[in-house]
Amino acid sequence: MSRFPFPMPFGWFKVAMVDDLAPGEVRTVHYFAREWVLWRSAAGRYAMHEPWCPHLGAHLGLGSVDGGCLRCTFHGWGFDADGENTDIPYAQRPNRKARVAGLPLLEHHGMLLAWWHPQGAAPLYQPLDFPEFEDPAYEPVVIRSFTIGTCIQEMAENGADHAHFQYVHSHPKVGITESVELHGFDRTIRTRQEFPSSKGPVPGRIDISGRGPGLAITRYQGLVTMSLVGASTPIDEEHTQLHFHFLVRNPDHDPKVSRIGAALVESVSREVLQDVPIWETKRYAASPALAPSEKPIVEFRTWFSQFYVTT
Ligand code: FES
Ligand SMILES: [Fe+2]
Repeated sequence: MSRFPFPMPFGWFKVAMVDDLAPGEVRTVHYFAREWVLWRSAAGRYAMHEPWCPHLGAHLGLGSVDGGCLRCTFHGWGFDADGENTDIPYAQRPNRKARVAGLPLLEHHGMLLAWWHPQGAAPLYQPLDFPEFEDPAYEPVVIRSFTIGTCIQEMAENGADHAHFQYVHSHPKVGITESVELHGFDRTIRTRQEFPSSKGPVPGRIDISGRGPGLAITRYQGLVTMSLVGASTPIDEEHTQLHFHFLVRNPDHDPKVSRIGAALVESVSREVLQDVPIWETKRYAASPALAPSEKPIVEFRTWFSQFYVTT
């Protein structure tokens, strides 16, 4: 029996960095509990399609890019980025009924996002903007990636669970939640938090803003100002790919800020590894026994449940 009762949520999810895939490249990827063929036309347009050729079922991951189309390796049929059959090498006309289904894609701050919905519904929101990616006051992005044996909700609940920072991550004191705002697909959680340092605890903040289940930004203020864009993508019902994009604010290129920022990147990355054994073995407690200060956990769960559709 699964340790948690959740299907995969709908939303925008990161499937690659834009630069990961060169024009003309074809790659088979595994997300949303199935395989997809991610490819890029010669002109640079991205597409993410189901892998089975509508002609006679060959795997399109074996195909190759020919200008604006992906050409199946079996009989050479071409499909454009919209999935339409554009030509059959041995016929006068394409087959209008031959269409390969795909996911809507969006380039967003250097990330390639795919819209996934279990019923194939069109996008229901636009992803949240993360202005730090384009702000010259920030150092170039540092990315850390993890594959974790749990679902997004269980991981994201961390943001509403302030007590664990002290017990799992050795933060000096339980943080103080200033506000929890959950409106529609958006959530914002503002907290005051002390950070450990070699000179003792440093007062600071951790503020989280997210839209949808797949993307959120955590803004740290303490010895340095750093933003962490977290992208969580379901691999299947029980596995999630987590990418952290760290952006350290350093407008004056101060080497000291750089050094502290790099140390914070390391310590936040280590914190994930502290969470992982708990996430990978815990069971979802549907009716938890909570302390009075832990109401945000319940609110978070109610908010998250809107991204589940039972088919
Ligand atoms: S199976 Fe793809 S072209 Fe025939
Ligand atoms: Fe944590």
